[in-house]
Amino acid sequence: MIAQSTIDKVYEIARVEEVIGDYVQLKKSGANYKGLSPFNSEKTPSFMVSPVKQIWKDFSSGKGGNVIAFLMELEHFTYPEAIKHLARKYGIEVEETVQDEAQKKLQDHKESLYLINQFAAHHFEDLLNRSETGKAIGLSYFQERGFTTATIKKFGLGFGGTSFDGLVKAAEAKGHQMNYLTELGLCIEKDGASGSFFDRFRDRVIFPIHSNSGRVLGFGGRILNSQKKVAKYVNSPESPIYHKSKVLYGIYYAKSAMAKANNCYLVEGYTDVIQLHQSGVENVVSSSGTALSESQIRMIQRLCQTITVLFDGDDAGVRASLRNIDLILKEGMNVRVVPFAEGEDPDSFARTHSPAKVKNYLEEQSIDFISFKTQILLKEAGSDSSKVAAAIRDLVASIACIPDPISQELYVRQTAKDLNISEGVLFASLADLNAKQARDTKKAAKKATSLSVVSRQSEQKKPEVNRLEVLESSLIKTLLLYGNRVAFFEDEVLKEGEEGEIVTEKVIQEMKVYEKIFLELQQDELAFSNQSFQELFKRVTEFYVTAGEEANMQSFVRSLTGENDQPLVDLVSTILLEDEQYLLHDWERKNIFAKAKEDSVDRLVTEIILSLRAYLLDQQIKKLQEASKEDTHAIEEVIDYLQLGQLLNKKLNRVLSF
Ligand code: CTP
Ligand code: MN
Repeated sequence: MIAQSTIDKVYEIARVEEVIGDYVQLKKSGANYKGLSPFNSEKTPSFMVSPVKQIWKDFSSGKGGNVIAFLMELEHFTYPEAIKHLARKYGIEVEETVQDEAQKKLQDHKESLYLINQFAAHHFEDLLNRSETGKAIGLSYFQERGFTTATIKKFGLGFGGTSFDGLVKAAEAKGHQMNYLTELGLCIEKDGASGSFFDRFRDRVIFPIHSNSGRVLGFGGRILNSQKKVAKYVNSPESPIYHKSKVLYGIYYAKSAMAKANNCYLVEGYTDVIQLHQSGVENVVSSSGTALSESQIRMIQRLCQTITVLFDGDDAGVRASLRNIDLILKEGMNVRVVPFAEGEDPDSFARTHSPAKVKNYLEEQSIDFISFKTQILLKEAGSDSSKVAAAIRDLVASIACIPDPISQELYVRQTAKDLNISEGVLFASLADLNAKQARDTKKAAKKATSLSVVSRQSEQKKPEVNRLEVLESSLIKTLLLYGNRVAFFEDEVLKEGEEGEIVTEKVIQEMKVYEKIFLELQQDELAFSNQSFQELFKRVTEFYVTAGEEANMQSFVRSLTGENDQPLVDLVSTILLEDEQYLLHDWERKNIFAKAKEDSVDRLVTEIILSLRAYLLDQQIKKLQEASKEDTHAIEEVIDYLQLGQLLNKKLNRVLSF
């Protein structure tokens, strides 16, 4: 178990915007940050982070919460894993309450795998830098490739050793369980000799593969000489911590540069990434020799909007890659291309040119993907008119992948110019393809519908506003933000006068905000219109009662660790951020939540409660008026309510006129 003191320290030091910034490119938007949802593929940002409130809200999925909730959602960490992750990130020592043998056994499986990988990475690094054979074989190999000591260190490069069970022995000496090593593909159990293991990465130089947050997920091991019969690379297999289609080599070192440049260079191999990095081009990742998966594209898209594919000077390779790029276009990203000359790849180019030349080359040679494809196809087709026609169809197919119709149109115009044919022909075949796609694939049809729904929604001036819900959530927001504050509330109470008549009397109440809200709602037996509001209200209030002086919004959210609490965490985030999303209610427009910071919290509370009451009263009157058409008794009630309404409005006007 993690000590409470560690949890507290993590909450104290971890910043939600920093942690989320590791995954999502955030742009300042008022007091908040905005970005593309890491949970959905989306083109317009609906993901919000509030540095002030230390929460996030994803309006596309409805998810939200604090920094821990984010890591649990995205990395699928358990609560303790998220805490430990943050402790590592911020250099906080994890204090553990005493661990007995049983607890140790129960330790999370994934955590153990991470631990083993980290151990293996250290082992390989050690062999490379300190063992005689490592230095003689591995280090000199890297040095020959032009890697500097700093680069080798930065990427954690290593050497697998020459003995057949070096890692196995080292792991055993540390008491690590062999089943973890075999699960991670670090060693293999000898056939027919159970209990006997040998290393899988021996005689190879090692490239550790890191997660977004820098944990070692797996390894690539390259042979040192060009033995024909052995695979050039041995790679870690899929495991509970390594899902190849969701990992990009180099992303950990590239992400901030990607966000800054709003561009990501995509290369083929480990060595291309490392070499470019060394040349000062840090926004570079590799898909490790395979086509980009959808999740990999999304990982990139969260950080930047453009992918620049660096092509080896090898025609077959280029041809094969053209198809895959349509997938990137489909995700709505800009795709650019930098071709390299025959026999050259990013690694060799960077090794033989100065950093300035490399940078220049990448900038100057970068061309738009559609233009690039046009060039390639035309060159291939030559003067064969049927091949040219096929090339045009192929190009239109790529353009049809682009979700944004405006971009499509621009590309059609550009391509028509490049091909020297009429735009009309291209537009016609594009329309044809668009229609066909919508017909053919269910998925495409679905997407088209959802897109048109989205655009119809965005055409509307304002979303339908449920006034009651706005009022209620404002009340809960006030409760969350200021519940534990002491305020002076001016109120009018009804009293019996000397002659038994009813008089109103002004009173000043000194109490906490949550107490005031509680009393007000109790007074009218007001319940919230929906169950989740009601539940949240109850929990917040009880929290203020039990947690005492320390209680605040953050500590409340932190206390929501129960099995069924996630919906409440989500709701809290929605309530706290929703005004930024819809900008719909009066208080926000008048900046009253901001003003409340300077001691008008009493008015804020009073105004919301009175408005809520007035609203409910109004509803009640409408209902009664309806009823009074049949039942004359109801008219008296209507009059009573109308009077009460006048009183409420009078009070409300006083509050509003400050
Ligand atoms: N790859 C692999 N297994 C292989 C060959 C390649 O996993 N047998 C992956 C590796 O991730 C490699 C990438 O595909 O980095 C690109 O392959 P290649 O260009 O052959 O390798 P490089 O890393 O460029 O190696 P080198 O320049 O040393 O030949
Ligand atoms: Mn190479």
